[in-house]
Amino acid sequence: MCGIVGYSGKRDAVKILLSGLSKLEYRGYDSAGIAVCGDSGAVEIRKSKGRLTELEKKLGDGVITGHVGIGHTRWATHGEPSDVNSHPHKSGMVTLVHNGIIENYVKLRDKLKTRGKSFASDTDTEVVAALIDRYYIGDAVEAIFTAAAMLRGSYALAVMFDDRPGEVYAIRKDSPLVVGKGADEIIIASDIPAFLSETRDYYLLDENEIAVVKDGGVKFYDYVKGFHEKELMTATWDVEAAEKGGYPHFMLKEMHEQPATLRDTVFPRISESGKILENELKDTSFIKQIRIVGCGSAMHAGLLGKAFIEKYARVPVTVDIASEFRYSSPVFNEGDVIVLISQSGETADSLAVTKLAKEKGIKTIGIVNVVGSSIARAVDNVVYTNAGPEIAVATTKAYTAQVAVLYLLGLRLAKDRGTIDDARYGEIVAAMRAIPEKAAEVLTHEDEYKRLASIYQGAHDMFFIGRGQDSALCCEGSLKLKEISYMHSEAYAAGELKHGTISLITEGVPVVAVATTEAMLEKTVSNVKEVSARGAAVIFVSQLEAEGGFYKEKIVLPTLDEAVMPILAIIPMQLFAYYVAIARGCDVDKPRNLAKSVTVE
Ligand code: M6R
Repeated sequence: MCGIVGYSGKRDAVKILLSGLSKLEYRGYDSAGIAVCGDSGAVEIRKSKGRLTELEKKLGDGVITGHVGIGHTRWATHGEPSDVNSHPHKSGMVTLVHNGIIENYVKLRDKLKTRGKSFASDTDTEVVAALIDRYYIGDAVEAIFTAAAMLRGSYALAVMFDDRPGEVYAIRKDSPLVVGKGADEIIIASDIPAFLSETRDYYLLDENEIAVVKDGGVKFYDYVKGFHEKELMTATWDVEAAEKGGYPHFMLKEMHEQPATLRDTVFPRISESGKILENELKDTSFIKQIRIVGCGSAMHAGLLGKAFIEKYARVPVTVDIASEFRYSSPVFNEGDVIVLISQSGETADSLAVTKLAKEKGIKTIGIVNVVGSSIARAVDNVVYTNAGPEIAVATTKAYTAQVAVLYLLGLRLAKDRGTIDDARYGEIVAAMRAIPEKAAEVLTHEDEYKRLASIYQGAHDMFFIGRGQDSALCCEGSLKLKEISYMHSEAYAAGELKHGTISLITEGVPVVAVATTEAMLEKTVSNVKEVSARGAAVIFVSQLEAEGGFYKEKIVLPTLDEAVMPILAIIPMQLFAYYVAIARGCDVDKPRNLAKSVTVE
């Protein structure tokens, strides 16, 4: 959600800013802009509603040049997408770009108005620029700190001052910013892919720490430590991992990466002797109840985790949506552990729950993909999903990696608690090790999922039904379809249909029915018969044999222990959603209104 890039060095700032912003397009945006400190020392701003290509048109050829600048892709929150609301915003001596939301901007704006400030846009960002300008009397760091202390909400800011031509200042709170360090140049960005083609070395900016970027170098400052040194990190992601690699879309590439990413998630976590997550979790005896919290697909992964952990480890698990959980006055008991699941590690509501847990003294475990992200840094223990950069807005490989980590956690708890016998433990561990190879097998049937997509792409509505773990799986299958193809779709526990939803089933309505467990097969099939008797066109997803006649199509899953089958079963649904979206002419990687990283609540 919104992307920031800042540059100081010897090269053409416009080029670097545009290239960095293009790498952040996946975050979702509806306008873009840059400000460059030209060789004359003056700050020049260009901005435009629409994609980066619109901005490029406005830039013309080499009209603005310089070696220092800031850029932004905006996902509108305050004020419609328009040229005037686009960033950068300028007030007095200050030009800045901003990610996040300033909750008290109306009050601040009113006060600033009484002091003679006027505002051109509807944004909260322009208020921040005016506020910093109000306190700027020659000391940039002091002005930024003073203004920041008055802001309520979240922000990542990159700031330039008219009378400090070679300098860029950056600060963040609850919104990500990293500082890439090349040879004689610094690139500030919301996320590492923005500068991965230039450098892999970077610093993580801490909350309310200021990066002072000058002449291609950087210094860090905060109120407690003053100017201080920081550890330089090296990204393990390579440029190829953040590029499409010959695929037409990131989403397709990321689905195809799943055999490899699942290997990276699972294999390093199981020792030779079969012990699991030894490095990440030294002790689990304190865990009495697990409270899984996440948003969207991360929460859906949590539903599968609940089914597995409760079955094998006999530890009670609750699953909540972060935006609800944080305001629900949750009752905590001794031994509660909050498990935060997040691909980006920056989701505002999930991050807020991490903070809530800290306040209440509840232990936290993070299942996070982005190394060094805010949630990864805030939790007591982190288990990285090792899925590599995920650029498509619709999560695929990060979701399956989250489910895999939850299964590993469940196995570890089951072992520690003695709720699983050695034979069953060995079987499931072997199944986990077989997942990458089986996932590759599922992917070989891509043409079949594409064929089904071509048949049902014109449907108005679609339903996903299943029981137990399959019901949890259906939530994800349905979300994948609706978010990228805009087809209306719902997931229901199969046994719940008769309590209302079956009235929506009419001739030809497609229903994806999932049955991956022997125990639930008969029950699910009988629910499926109820919908097919009412005309539904059933696509049955299973590795199990069931008497035919009740489905139109069957997606046959490979044989694998049913305990971990959901990781395989979701892959055809991901590909089906992808091909439906393609057939409907949708922008698969950047679906309308959505952002990859939801950094505002
Ligand atoms: O980065 P996070 O895992 O915290 O993001 C959570 C959700 O925003 C995310 O899973 C979202 O639902 C995806 N668009 C689903 O594909």
